[in-house]
Amino acid sequence: MKAANAKTILITGGAGFIGSHVVRHFVKKYREYKILNVDFLTYAGNLENLKDIENADNYTFIKADITDEKAIDKLFQLYKFDHVIHLAAESHVDRSIDHPLAFAKTNILGTLNLLNSFKNLWQDNWKNKLFHHISTDEVYGTLGLTGHFTETTPYDPNSPYSASKASSDHFVRAYGETYNLPFVISNCSNNYGPFQFPEKLIPLFINNIISRKKLPVYGEGNNTRDWLYVEDHAKAIDLIFHQGKSGETYNIGGFNEWKNIELVELLCNQMDLKLGRPAGDSERLISYVKDRPGHDFRYAIDATKISTELGWKPTVNFEQGLAKTIDWYLANQDWLKNVTSGEYRKYYEKQYGEEL
Ligand code: NAD
Ligand code: TYD
Repeated sequence: MKAANAKTILITGGAGFIGSHVVRHFVKKYREYKILNVDFLTYAGNLENLKDIENADNYTFIKADITDEKAIDKLFQLYKFDHVIHLAAESHVDRSIDHPLAFAKTNILGTLNLLNSFKNLWQDNWKNKLFHHISTDEVYGTLGLTGHFTETTPYDPNSPYSASKASSDHFVRAYGETYNLPFVISNCSNNYGPFQFPEKLIPLFINNIISRKKLPVYGEGNNTRDWLYVEDHAKAIDLIFHQGKSGETYNIGGFNEWKNIELVELLCNQMDLKLGRPAGDSERLISYVKDRPGHDFRYAIDATKISTELGWKPTVNFEQGLAKTIDWYLANQDWLKNVTSGEYRKYYEKQYGEEL
């Protein structure tokens, strides 16, 4: 389909967690594509995440802010991107509660800016072009104890983060309707794996267990998330990019729901084994803290569409994925130390009321 003759692909946010896996996947698998990674290297972006492919012939990194109209338009005119896979975003719910405007700026205006430059470049000449927008299941709001999000679930975002992502999804769809811009949107559940910034639940708790710090579980720990290993997300993006139908949305999920407290207990047990600590050692670090305001109770994706139409399913089960993730963080403690220095220390003190 549209992306079959892909030539030059802009991947935004490629120095972040999911973006680095997507860049690596495309650079290694599609030697004939030219991959340009545009990232502003905020606190969440780190070129160390791409060390193994930084010298590949088909890869180029460019530091730029997606909200910078002139800079982005110049890049589109210079490189003539045929396709965009857009991941750059402010991505952490807790930060969005403190700084909603930053989320509106990057996630809404940044996306709009990319759409505009894409449109300015190709005008109506859309043959073999595609804008793949990477979004989240959080746009659908929250579920009770039962039910799943499908592609037709109405948007009902609750946090400034999910509201900004929902808004960006709407702009992408509006450009499709108004200007015939070819697009696909994928809405994925919670990812985990190597290179995830340790402000998110799993790497935060791995980091705290290593240094025997408190594990701050919000509320009663009953909130539920559907977890997907990040490489399975990268493979789903590859499939949707190449075989998805223009103008469609695809939900991506792990068929893998965990109540936070049960996930944390599993993580504690695995960490005790790996660190050679007595059983129950890490669980003693669990500390119930004040709930996140507007905390969505449950997310669960119905991934039937991508599975029946495109033949995708997750390949890594949770226990294996978690073990691989823990092993990676234990083997990469220098990476952890580097990303948790500086700005992150201030964030941690403000968020959790104690020093990291
Ligand atoms: P991340 O925070 O790890 O990475 C975001 C990247 O975007 C960083 O490299 C950062 O430097 C870059 N960036 C931020 N602002 C920028 C700007 N103004 N200009 C250019 N680059 C900028 O995020 P992630 O967890 O890898 O998420 C990537 C995408 O996937 C996001 O769009 C997010 O909404 C979506 N998503 C994430 C999850 C998840 O569980 N993490 C689940 C579903 C969807
Ligand atoms: P997070 O990794 O921030 O992802 P999201 O909010 O996008 O789902 O959080 C996952 C779950 O873990 C969520 O229910 C909030 C909870 N949580 C805690 O209990 N304590 C924490 O310190 C963090 C960061 C998250």
